[in-house]
Amino acid sequence: MLDFHAHILPGVDDGSKSVDESTKMLEQMQAQGIKCVVATPHFYANDESVDTFLARRAAAYEAVAHLPNRPKILLGAEVRYYEGISRMPDLKKLCVQDSRLMLLEMPFRHWTEYALKEVVDIACQGRIIPVIAHVERYLFIQKKGVAERLLQNGVLFQVNSEFLTEWKRRRKALRMLKHEQIHFLGSDCHNLSDRSPNAGEGYALLEKRLGRDFVEAFCEYGWNKVSSGRK
Ligand SMILES: [Fe+2]
Repeated sequence: MLDFHAHILPGVDDGSKSVDESTKMLEQMQAQGIKCVVATPHFYANDESVDTFLARRAAAYEAVAHLPNRPKILLGAEVRYYEGISRMPDLKKLCVQDSRLMLLEMPFRHWTEYALKEVVDIACQGRIIPVIAHVERYLFIQKKGVAERLLQNGVLFQVNSEFLTEWKRRRKALRMLKHEQIHFLGSDCHNLSDRSPNAGEGYALLEKRLGRDFVEAFCEYGWNKVSSGRK
């Protein structure tokens, strides 16, 4: 099982604050059966260059790389959308390790036509596959047809575990899953308290409602996406 969205690297963003906290978060993932986690620290283009970010991320990874009994860690980023992102030369460096997948955080408001066009442009350029982070947070305030337009152009969707585990929203989540509109599950964990690793709970709910075969196919799809499309 894959956790595609996690702030588990120590001291690199508003996620884990220390090696000790990261260690415990990784142990929790391991106990839940998560075999691979994508570390996705926030990247804000206004704050730093891509290379500075990558150096900070590498240093944070070094601090946990030696830990035993942890899921495999792939290095990625949660890239905040900004106007002009589709023309950013270094964007490919922010893809999940060795893949074309890039986790993209969109604005928490109606997406402008310009923003939508940029996301579609990135997908159509072919070098990067945008994966919209926790799409359930803002998809339902968008105009009708936005999801279909993105999906038809090769954009993928990630949801947080709570979208499945909270009963009020579960029906929407299951409907999207059945229509192949959700491609990755993540915990978006930041700490050990109110935003702890919980992807295992999401997968358990998925198995309970849609069956073991569905979960296996979902995980295989995600793993193939992560491990294909090498640079
Ligand atoms: Fe996040």
